[in-house]
Amino acid sequence: MNVELYERIWMWAACVLIVAFLGTIMLMTALHAVTPPSHFETVDPSNLVGNPEFANPGVRPGPDGGVVVTVVAETFDFSPNPIEVPANRPVTFRLTSADVIHGFEVVGTNANAMAIPGYVSQFTVTFPKPGEYLIACNEYCGLLHHNMTAKLIVKKEAQ
Ligand code: CUA
Repeated sequence: MNVELYERIWMWAACVLIVAFLGTIMLMTALHAVTPPSHFETVDPSNLVGNPEFANPGVRPGPDGGVVVTVVAETFDFSPNPIEVPANRPVTFRLTSADVIHGFEVVGTNANAMAIPGYVSQFTVTFPKPGEYLIACNEYCGLLHHNMTAKLIVKKEAQ
């Protein structure tokens, strides 16, 4: 079989690139223990009641004058509900799920994460606008998925 010289060059170049890319991934995985950007932290989803933090989901003071909100998602509810946080302060959400994968989206904002059983999803947002926001589950989780909502109340800071 006759393969043109240019075609052969490109075939070899493609092979070299594939090997180089795969090699880089494997090297980085071995050397730097590559992991997803979040989900470092694990919890036992079958024993959330025995977890000091997730047994009592709620809002508590956090660093920098902000708050930390611990949330447990469980078919088909979020706990706590409603969630009350201050405006213009960093709000750190720490989510997990007690059963299946749920979503946690504060509609109209960029607060959006997955609640995955066994893992803690953490992110920090600031809500500049006081008011009531809808929290919706955006991962299909069962028959009443469409009913899985909660309320976020962003309170104006006391002057
Ligand atoms: Cu929970 Cu959909």
